[in-house]
Amino acid sequence: MPSPSLRKFKSAVDAYATKLADESAQIRDLKALEELRHQFLSRKRGAVTLLFEELKTLKPEEKPVAGQMINALKKEVQEKLAALEAKLETPVEVKKEIDLTLPGEERYWGAPHPIRLFQQEIENIFLSMGFSIEEGPEIETDYYNFEALNFPPQHPARDDWDTLYITDKLLLRTHTSPVQIRVMEKKKPPIRIIIPGKVFRHETPDPTHLPMFFQVEGLVVDEGITFANLKGTIEHFIKRLLGEKIKIRFRPSFFPFTEPSAEVDIECLACGAKDPACRICGGSGWKEILGSGMVDPQVFKNVNIDPEKYSGWAFGMGIDRTAMFALGIPDMRYFFENDLRFIRQFYLK
Ligand code: PHE
Repeated sequence: MPSPSLRKFKSAVDAYATKLADESAQIRDLKALEELRHQFLSRKRGAVTLLFEELKTLKPEEKPVAGQMINALKKEVQEKLAALEAKLETPVEVKKEIDLTLPGEERYWGAPHPIRLFQQEIENIFLSMGFSIEEGPEIETDYYNFEALNFPPQHPARDDWDTLYITDKLLLRTHTSPVQIRVMEKKKPPIRIIIPGKVFRHETPDPTHLPMFFQVEGLVVDEGITFANLKGTIEHFIKRLLGEKIKIRFRPSFFPFTEPSAEVDIECLACGAKDPACRICGGSGWKEILGSGMVDPQVFKNVNIDPEKYSGWAFGMGIDRTAMFALGIPDMRYFFENDLRFIRQFYLK
């Protein structure tokens, strides 16, 4: 049985423990916490110091037990103070109870890019006509970008493509046409494909030019393919993309890899072909959107397809350019500024 003096000591320690529990429940700020710390741990008059003073009055054999009691209390005080301190220092928002009746915080969602959406529309139209989708590298060799497409070395037509060279023989592709060659090297006719992708040209950015833009290439190769197929398919495609009523014209043109060649214009959607001072069409009423033509027999020879047996047609269209006209966007650079206010509006439409 503990002696009366030790029992009295224990009840003093217990009283402090109760006091600690009661007072710490009231603590709301760091200042009150400091007062509590002072009350228990101050060197001169804190509870722990007072208890050690008291301990001196006990009998020698009682001192170790009493000492353990004080140390247990001291440990409890320190733990309680540390826990309260951590709680008081966390930011107010975290501590706040959640009010389920408040409106939630709105998340700002992104959206698919308008060029991506437009490209998907193009892909869906061609997929529905039985075409499949191919891709090719953005870094190309001179051979695929030019030579195999019937641009001999030093040919002046190369100047029409403001090429960004990496080395003499390596470049950033200036059009998606090199993928025609890559596909025809591997697959034999019949071929019905489109090739969407990025292309690069040495251009200073302005409202209608960028050094990087998107094209979609088309290629059909089979027996008995004629210019009528080219015209019919391209007309059908443009009408499905831009509306039944759109006015289209084919204009004779030149590309080394097609013969004959045609460029295709659509009526200017910005001014409806009515404004002689239109900034988009320059008053002509027309906008060129693609180049096309019958695959040149020399191109077939370059990929070991017999031009006596097979014929084909190809086209290349600027995706961002056409998207600009279709969506009424006055400046091509908006596409690449990554302003969500711009990008989201086409998805929400
Ligand atoms: N590659 C040509 C260009 O970038 C477009 C084109 C593709 C023309 C296919 C004819 C056939 O201007």
